[in-house]
Amino acid sequence: MENTRGKKLTKKDRPIPIDEEIIIPDEEVLISVTDPKGFIIETNDIFTKISGYSEDELIGSSHNIIRHPDMPKIMFKIVWDHIMDKENVMAVVKNLAKDGKYYWVVTDFVTRVDADRNIINYTAYRRPVHDKVKQAVIPLYKALCAIEDVAGIDASERFLNNYFEDRDTNYDDMIEEIIVKNCDKAAVLGFGDNPETAMKTMSKEKKQSLFNKLFGIK
Ligand SMILES: Cc1cc2nc3c(=O)[nH]c(=O)nc-3n(C[C@H](O)[C@H](O)[C@H](O)COP(=O)(O)O)c2cc1C
Repeated sequence: MENTRGKKLTKKDRPIPIDEEIIIPDEEVLISVTDPKGFIIETNDIFTKISGYSEDELIGSSHNIIRHPDMPKIMFKIVWDHIMDKENVMAVVKNLAKDGKYYWVVTDFVTRVDADRNIINYTAYRRPVHDKVKQAVIPLYKALCAIEDVAGIDASERFLNNYFEDRDTNYDDMIEEIIVKNCDKAAVLGFGDNPETAMKTMSKEKKQSLFNKLFGIK
């Protein structure tokens, strides 16, 4: 593949997906950092290794180098809307490795700002996803991709907003609920036998550090 530095990959540049999953060991955290424009400036070894690209291919590229076609566009719009507003956000993401295999991660997107609240960089911390979490998001992502194929991202955004309205929730609460409900670690973390009730009474600050509590990222 030609050098992708500073370029946005198009569909035709990307590897052809194959139906083979890369399983990420439980203890691993795949980290990457971008500049404020979203170009990768740093990766850790395990992120690079799982992606299948060399560090040189990754540095300077957009993360869409690992974008999987099964991911709805609207999910990335939600991520960017949050991080550009300097709000941390979690997302369950299916990524595409260079050899066409896929891997699922739950990603915590963090915006770092300077003393004047200017954005310094964005960092993504990715952990392996419990099978039940995948099963919870796959039908939703399939529906969103199908809508985007025929009617575009505005239509999938409307669908998602109606989906939240029907369930009296929003994106942040939904994603946390899916993860807490399906994460065995919840009980260990002091949420008791009923993590869902515990989540409802939790303050925003406490919720924001939920990923840290679940996955031990500082
Ligand atoms: C810190 C950070 C990490 C990101 N990680 C991923 C990722 O793991 N996979 C992915 O597909 N997009 C990731 N993105 C989003 C991409 O920048 C991009 O919006 C997405 O791949 C959609 O690409 P497209 O607009 O070309 O469809 C990340 C963005 C940031 C700022």
